[in-house]
Amino acid sequence: MIILLILTLLFESQFETMTNILNVRHLEKTYMSGSKKLKVLDDITFSIQQGDTFAIVGPSGSGKTTLLGLCAGLDDSDEGSVELCGTQLDHLTQDERALLRNEKVGFIFQDFQLLPTLTALENVSVPMELKGDKNSAKTAMTLLSKVGLADRADHYPSQLSGGEQQRVALARAFSNKPSILFADEPTGNLDAETSEKVVDLLFDLNKEAGTTLVIVTHDLDLAKKNKRILRLQGGRIMKELSQL
Ligand SMILES: Nc1ncnc2c1ncn2[C@@H]1O[C@H](COP(=O)(O)OP(=O)(O)O)[C@@H](O)[C@H]1O
Ligand SMILES: [Mg+2]
Repeated sequence: MIILLILTLLFESQFETMTNILNVRHLEKTYMSGSKKLKVLDDITFSIQQGDTFAIVGPSGSGKTTLLGLCAGLDDSDEGSVELCGTQLDHLTQDERALLRNEKVGFIFQDFQLLPTLTALENVSVPMELKGDKNSAKTAMTLLSKVGLADRADHYPSQLSGGEQQRVALARAFSNKPSILFADEPTGNLDAETSEKVVDLLFDLNKEAGTTLVIVTHDLDLAKKNKRILRLQGGRIMKELSQL
């Protein structure tokens, strides 16, 4: 009986780890500010299940962007570990991490970060071309239609408004069919009306694709659309709210 119980517990914990797309354990990050040490993240532990929508909120400077960068393997922590899509990031080389990101991860940034010398269509195609996808132009056009910008495919970012650029960035983020999508203040540079449109598109595309979403935001209305909300303050987890 006891053996059965132990086996069940083992199986359940194994199963839980398997369905978690992100496992963050005891993360610490310190920056040097002149000769002083600045602890930006302090003992951060949480997990995100496949398909979850997860918001990270907190005041400016609380470590949100740093945390997102560590979760996506863009930067290294001083202590702790990140397991993304079943892979321990600190076991990978920079090239292996870049490959994992191209295969499994999408990004959306506050300042859109489209390539200025490429058209909207080419910007959306880039992640697929990096993968050697021969249908990239066709898929990119379908995605641009979904965000309502098919007629702007040949326009360069400088010819598009902020909201339009962010819609191109949304199409790009979903183009490689990511398992997990990280968005850092995706509505931070947009007015209220445009934000609402971009957020609706983000959640529509996400629902259709079944992607896991991790969104850093100041916007509490946007945060509340997520299943879970994590609040950071001074580099520590203050509170986690479960909703829905
Ligand atoms: N590369 C860096 N070097 C030194 N300090 C940094 C660096 N990046 C961020 N910081 C500091 O770390 C803290 C957290 O920054 P950040 O993660 O960008 O916070 P948030 O996104 O919540 O505004 C801030 O005090 C910021 O000034
Ligand atoms: Mg930030």
